[in-house]
Amino acid sequence: MGNHFLVTAAIPEPGLQFLSDAGQVTVLPEPPSYGTLATLCASGDFDVVLTQLRDVIDAPLLADARVKGFSNYAVGYNNIDIDAATRHGILVGNTPGVLTDATADIAMLLILGTARRVVEADRLVRDGNFLGWEPKLLLGRDVSGAVLGLAGFGRIARATARRALGFGMEVIFSPRPPDDRPLSDEELGEFVGKVRQVPWAELVEQNDFLSLHVPLNDQTRHLVDADVLQRMKPGAILINTARGPVVDETALVEALRNGAIAGAGLDVFEDEPQLAPGLAELPNTVLLPHVGSATVRVRSEMARLSALNAVAIAEGRLPLHPVNAPVTA
Ligand code: GLV
Ligand code: GLV
Repeated sequence: MGNHFLVTAAIPEPGLQFLSDAGQVTVLPEPPSYGTLATLCASGDFDVVLTQLRDVIDAPLLADARVKGFSNYAVGYNNIDIDAATRHGILVGNTPGVLTDATADIAMLLILGTARRVVEADRLVRDGNFLGWEPKLLLGRDVSGAVLGLAGFGRIARATARRALGFGMEVIFSPRPPDDRPLSDEELGEFVGKVRQVPWAELVEQNDFLSLHVPLNDQTRHLVDADVLQRMKPGAILINTARGPVVDETALVEALRNGAIAGAGLDVFEDEPQLAPGLAELPNTVLLPHVGSATVRVRSEMARLSALNAVAIAEGRLPLHPVNAPVTA
């Protein structure tokens, strides 16, 4: 078989099996540096590259790449310059849908975990400081009755809304911040009458929990900056399961320190895997290592989809889940 797949990090089965059924597979033993990956992409040895979020596929790399496409092992694709890929006739695929519920579970977990101070509580017990039931030990916030503000109203935001409504929260959202593009009742579907859409500026001021569900792009980079943090309620909590750079993390540390907001639950960071100085020392945070999609079943589904995308591209077809517009073959 003529197809040769480059896989930048071993993915779960059935991903590798699907690829080896369709051609030759090279799995890199460790994450490639930018230079190594650029050289491999330019070598002409590979038809499709199966990439991870940490692989930076930018315009210069794409200009020299001699591949048919990239299959990103993720729903997000901010690591790939899609416009440049399209210009060069290079297809890109992603893995939407399969990780929606798992990621919404992590958003809910962060809402509950920050509200009820789970990290502080766990540490207190492990440190041997649990001395018996106390009327004022680790009092947190109510989730029922609190207002959840969703920035974005795509699949993951909707799955989070469903959970939050089940917990008795009031749900408001802004469909595509920072611009306001109201959704019709048809677009709202099952949520008509259950959630309220408000302009971004109002969402910022009215929430008790602000959960981010926007893709990272030029419009959403630092969507939550010092000004937004200042306009939030002092008791509000920021939740981010989307992409780190949507938040100005340095401004967030400052806001948490000076009480502009009350807490933060983060699964993503601005400069992953680095944390902004001071963030890890703040008690009013729950910090997770980007595990939104990390269940055995979901990662296996992502492997299946990304492998099918890669095989389709190698065979000259569109991927199951194309990110960019069809290009002339
Ligand atoms: C994870 O962050 C993804 O985009 O799949
Ligand atoms: C992104 O894919 C989302 O589901 O919101």
